[in-house]
Amino acid sequence: MKIVVVTGSPHKAGTSALLADKFIEGAESKGHKVFRFNAAFEDIHPCRGCDACGMNGPCVQKDAIEEKLIQKLVDCDMIVLVTPLYYFGFSAQLKTVIDRFYSRTGSIHKKKSALLATAWNNDSWTMTALKAHYTRLCQYMEWQDQGQIYATGCGYRSAIEGTEFPVQALELGKKV
Ligand SMILES: Cc1cc2nc3c(=O)[nH]c(=O)nc-3n(C[C@H](O)[C@H](O)[C@H](O)COP(=O)(O)O)c2cc1C
Repeated sequence: MKIVVVTGSPHKAGTSALLADKFIEGAESKGHKVFRFNAAFEDIHPCRGCDACGMNGPCVQKDAIEEKLIQKLVDCDMIVLVTPLYYFGFSAQLKTVIDRFYSRTGSIHKKKSALLATAWNNDSWTMTALKAHYTRLCQYMEWQDQGQIYATGCGYRSAIEGTEFPVQALELGKKV
């Protein structure tokens, strides 16, 4: 499969980056081709809602989403969203990419997908809003979810390294 992994953290060696690394390691070990787009380190801009794309054409903004990512999303079999929890949702960096799906919404439908998320807190409700958002996104985009990892209680790198979450990400990458 062709897999696109979109990360949303500004921490190059952070908690969610570790999950992305492990997922990719697992997927590549099974022969999948992975394209990784680290949204926090690219020149990207939010959707302007201008509707010049008509939801089915090029975006007027010639940034890294339009120039490097969008065709990969159209052509791939699976999209993996990777995010730290920011105020109970996707990070702004990742949400900026998601909103730009708008210019090719029809062509990014019917993919496989997965979500890898990390958070500082470990309450029963820490991830409920993110999970609801991802679930509705999958429903709308007609994505077939292949797995979700919610790494709560993982606010910094050493906190996640000793947990099962990186192993879960590796195994998910192997089984997709
Ligand atoms: C702007 C911001 C908002 C955050 N919001 C939450 C939150 O709502 N709940 C939570 O448990 N942790 C929250 N955190 C903590 C991060 O989700 C957590 O530290 C995560 O492990 C960071 O992932 P990273 O290392 O991949 O950047 C927030 C951190 C930042 C910087």
